[in-house]
Amino acid sequence: MNVLVINGPNLNLLGEREPGIYGDVSYESLCEILKGKAQELGFSQCECYQSNHEGDIIDKLHSARTEYSGVIINAGALTHYSIALRDAIAAVHIPVIEVHISNVHKREEFRHHSVISPVCEGVIAGFGTNSYVLGLYALKNLLEK
Ligand code: DQA
Repeated sequence: MNVLVINGPNLNLLGEREPGIYGDVSYESLCEILKGKAQELGFSQCECYQSNHEGDIIDKLHSARTEYSGVIINAGALTHYSIALRDAIAAVHIPVIEVHISNVHKREEFRHHSVISPVCEGVIAGFGTNSYVLGLYALKNLLEK
């Protein structure tokens, strides 16, 4: 049981980017927290991957399909418009869980729609960086079913 955590555009700037919305935990600290939590939950491996480039994220998802039991993804703004990302998620036959740090439904209207939700197992949003931790619990539960 191993997990890949994918973060999309601008999430490398966590901690310094709009801290009122995204909090003050850095991307590096988030990865450390998730690796520790994943180990505690019994995952053999937790890789954190971040890219600001749509195509790189799609390539990573393609290679994940044979290497990982499941994926947790915060696709950032790609969530709201990337049909290519949606198609990639639909193409890989491993569970993908969508997470967001902020409650996108409380924010601007353009953030209310996700083009990837219909091809993800579920969505967790609005719990700060804890959304990713909740994603790990959800994935473990799915994989153990
Ligand atoms: C986000 C929400 C998106 O609307 C935004 O573009 C992000 C971060 C979140 O985690 O709350 O980059 O996915």
